[in-house]
Amino acid sequence: MSQPAFSIPQAQLPALLKAMPKAELHMHIEGSLEPELIFALAQRNGVQLSYPSVEALRAAYAFTDLQSFLDIYYAGASVLLKEEDFFDMAWAYLLKAREDGVVHTELFFDPQTHTERGVPFEVVIKGLTRACEQARTELGVSAALILCFLRHLSEEDAFRTLEEALPHRDLFIGVGLDSSERGHPPEKFARVFARCRELGLHLVAHAGEEGPAQYITDALDILHVERIDHGVRCVEDPALVARLARQGTALTVCPLSNVKLCVFGTMGEHNLRTLLDHGLKVTINSDDPAYFGGYLYTNFLATFEALGLDAGHAYTLARNSLEASFVSDEVKAGWVRQLDDTFARFASAA
Ligand code: ADE
Ligand code: ZN
Repeated sequence: MSQPAFSIPQAQLPALLKAMPKAELHMHIEGSLEPELIFALAQRNGVQLSYPSVEALRAAYAFTDLQSFLDIYYAGASVLLKEEDFFDMAWAYLLKAREDGVVHTELFFDPQTHTERGVPFEVVIKGLTRACEQARTELGVSAALILCFLRHLSEEDAFRTLEEALPHRDLFIGVGLDSSERGHPPEKFARVFARCRELGLHLVAHAGEEGPAQYITDALDILHVERIDHGVRCVEDPALVARLARQGTALTVCPLSNVKLCVFGTMGEHNLRTLLDHGLKVTINSDDPAYFGGYLYTNFLATFEALGLDAGHAYTLARNSLEASFVSDEVKAGWVRQLDDTFARFASAA
């Protein structure tokens, strides 16, 4: 889809970016755990933290690469023990999502981070599900769960997690692959993804964040994923870029994350505009907003400011997010109509 031209002044862009209905497709719910909530849950559950204060914890959020972030992210998740904790975490995110104009969100969760500490799978998924259901009824935000396997652990471990998850099959829509990318190629999880495919689960995987373009190709050919999470390193392989454009494979790009984890030096150096220019189905997402400096709207704002994007880009990005979501075509069409109405309203007010 080429970017349509809209006569909406640049001054209206911040309001438009917030108001336009959009989907968030790459958000780790454990990455929405704000330092204040980490401390509150630590106190509630009697968990000892290795930082003396909220300020000291936040000051530690100076990352040099993905692993330096993951170490702190897994430590933060150690305060989550009870169903109520998972509910509180997800509810806090869903309130922010509504404020940012998110109509639909597909939330990643990392069960192994919790089951490894003795928290039953059921506790995790029940707390998250209750928040998703409440978001639908009280906020008008649609929310679904995607179970992520941790790629630094073994495929056997992933299979065990899948077994634990299957009694709750109706509570999650798909599986993903996250955690340390380098040295853990997609092929390591070929068999468990094949099983998930047989089960009719949606499939996604992180690829081409820190890892090479080959991991994107392998995620497509070996794991048969429907979307690529990040994927920004696809530009290193022109044939892959052409393929992604031809197939309309969505990339769930996370701009603030990429800068915080030093994938790009500055936002001005981010390749999101280049990806759009290549005709790729790019979406904007927040990844781990509590750690990377902002939720979805902040990601849009920072990207648009740094890359000089306009209302046409905003339309494309919002529409891509709705189209790349795992809801029915009918539901998508309804949201696209809302999107068109929003743009028509802004254009007529100009
Ligand atoms: N887990 C949480 N955020 C992640 C990211 N950006 N990459 C890989 N694994 C993650
Ligand atoms: Zn991610």
